[in-house]
Amino acid sequence: GRHLIEPGDFQIEEIESIMQLADNIITNPKGYSLVCKGKLLASLFYEPSTRTRFSFEAAMLRLGGEIIGFDDPNNSSVSKGESLGDTIRTIECYSDIAVIRHPREGTARLVSKFAKEMPIINAGDGGHEHPTQTLTDLLTIRKYKGGCDNHVVGVCGDLLFGRTIHSLVKTLNRYEGITFIFISPKELKMPENILHQLNPDSYRETTNLDDVIGELDILYMSRVQRERFVSEEEYLRLKDYYILDKKKMRKAKEDMIVMHPLPRVNEIAIEVDDDPRAVYFKQAKCGMYVRMALIAKLLGVEDNND
Ligand code: CP
Repeated sequence: GRHLIEPGDFQIEEIESIMQLADNIITNPKGYSLVCKGKLLASLFYEPSTRTRFSFEAAMLRLGGEIIGFDDPNNSSVSKGESLGDTIRTIECYSDIAVIRHPREGTARLVSKFAKEMPIINAGDGGHEHPTQTLTDLLTIRKYKGGCDNHVVGVCGDLLFGRTIHSLVKTLNRYEGITFIFISPKELKMPENILHQLNPDSYRETTNLDDVIGELDILYMSRVQRERFVSEEEYLRLKDYYILDKKKMRKAKEDMIVMHPLPRVNEIAIEVDDDPRAVYFKQAKCGMYVRMALIAKLLGVEDNND
């Protein structure tokens, strides 16, 4: 099977074709409502999730397929000491495709080696990667900014631990004419190994959102990732470092969009939600359509049933 573990597993042309399929599904949802009839998706979440899990499950159901999974990973035999490798070999006896989220980096890649036919989709592995969030983000940018090339992208918040950010930056870097402005406290800077992949002329780093917000076409906000901190005290000190509010939004371009993978804690004030530039809940909806497209592609059932 073909897996999606990190966005680099797919060529840009393949990513664009998934987005094209998502657009077709948005235009004609009925045409795709049975393409996964008789297929099963295993939903394996070893870490909490609202959007990724429910959008994957909604996606499979809306394609006419069905879902299996546990409500609590402690109810699976992993709690009796079974390895994830054996778990995947077993799940493959019952399902056609599997989605896995796990707190340990590299887990999705590891388990994909145990799947003979069944595609594995990484729904987030620790602070490492979150490729389907990237597909979600790209579809949102395509829909609300007309395409993914030629933007000044401000990436703000926890750039150290934010897996959605790592996956998005590496992928946008493969598009034309992207300038990044990385906005973070110095303790939560973008990791050096990712900065090294970028052209030095294509990014700058700052701690000050106010100074740069007026330059941005896209502002990608993110939550400080409490679950990745060793020190709770350090988390509490940094968690409210940036709060996007109406006052800050006054300095932004009329056509800037504000994105956020969600969940949000305090980093975007509720008062910003009504601003037409705030697209983060539309982004969550894009997540379902792009996951429908991804499942259909990986299962080879992308032709509609009209
Ligand atoms: N954006 C995202 O991954 O949200 P969940 O953690 O709720 O799935």
